[in-house]
Amino acid sequence: MKIRKVLITGGAGYIGTHCCIELLARGFEVVCADNFTNSSVVALHRVEQISGVKCQIAAINLCSKREIQSLFEQHRFDAAIHFAGHKAVGESIAQPLRYYKNNILSVINLCEVMHDNDCKNIVFSSSAAVYSTNNAPPYREDAPIGPCNPYGRTKAMIENILNDLNVSDPTWNISILRYFNPVGAHPSGLIGENPAGTPNNLMPYIAQVAIGRLNELQVFGGDYDTPDGTCIRDFIHVVDLAQGHLAALKKLEGNPGCMTHNIGTGNGHSVLELIAAFERVNKIHVPYTIVHRRVGDMPVNFAATDKAEKELHWKAKLSLDDMVRDTWNWQSRNPDGY
Ligand code: WQD
Repeated sequence: MKIRKVLITGGAGYIGTHCCIELLARGFEVVCADNFTNSSVVALHRVEQISGVKCQIAAINLCSKREIQSLFEQHRFDAAIHFAGHKAVGESIAQPLRYYKNNILSVINLCEVMHDNDCKNIVFSSSAAVYSTNNAPPYREDAPIGPCNPYGRTKAMIENILNDLNVSDPTWNISILRYFNPVGAHPSGLIGENPAGTPNNLMPYIAQVAIGRLNELQVFGGDYDTPDGTCIRDFIHVVDLAQGHLAALKKLEGNPGCMTHNIGTGNGHSVLELIAAFERVNKIHVPYTIVHRRVGDMPVNFAATDKAEKELHWKAKLSLDDMVRDTWNWQSRNPDGY
């Protein structure tokens, strides 16, 4: 069936807003649902400014099944893209119950209401954090799963839930996308990563040091078994990531079942390499100190990307320079975020 109207949960978030822009640009009708605990409704106003198209907004709590049911009484959705969830590795170690409750309960509520409304196309925002560090990257989709932190374990559990759902009812069409490290911002500079409070993730922390909101970056660990001693990640531009969702939706239209794809570039860059690229491209100094390792970090994590290229006909196009340039363009135009 043709997918035309899409529910985006977490739609006001960093990845949700970028995905919304790509869908609106291609004529999809979009409803963005968000509880706005880690996002701003201003971001959705900016989406409309960029797109020239209105996206409908629903302020709901996905841990309340009743609120989701009420939304489905107002709209006839063809598919859902489920971004909503807590997503900071370090924070998940300090607050595991909050992560398990929010991330697992919200997806169960959503799927139950989707089933009741005969809406069985879902794209799920999973993560490279599900892979086991016992295996060497690049991680292929059939690599052993073995997350090393509560955040990654919630994502692995939800993947199992969705796989079991498809086995129980093959009319479910499910796309599981394992993101690597989304960074960057829309080239307009009108939307970007805007975490509440002190950033947990590397790139927004770098950007806030560069703009002067934070004094200095702490690099977590300089003694890993990597060329420069710092962790290696597969940084992917958020616009490339958003376009990967379009490719997944298109695949769902004609291919029932449950499929899993990495959404990464296939290239690994270290923490220090990212800092150096940011400084070189933006001609800005980013002071940092190398400190203790962060519990829960994987030393090296980057994607095998051939499955997504072959089956989704999608490949990341934007470079590390594009990522750091667009990040700074967003942060310098929005020093205090939204
Ligand atoms: C990257 C590297 C840190 C902050 C991310 C997302 C998660 C998921 C998986 C999508 C690590 C180091 C960080 C800082 C640092 N993505 N770092 N100083 O942990 O790879 O997880 O990808 O689903 O949502 O969080 O990302 O940016 O937190 O860390 O040195 O102040 O940067 O130790 O090596 P991570 P991150």
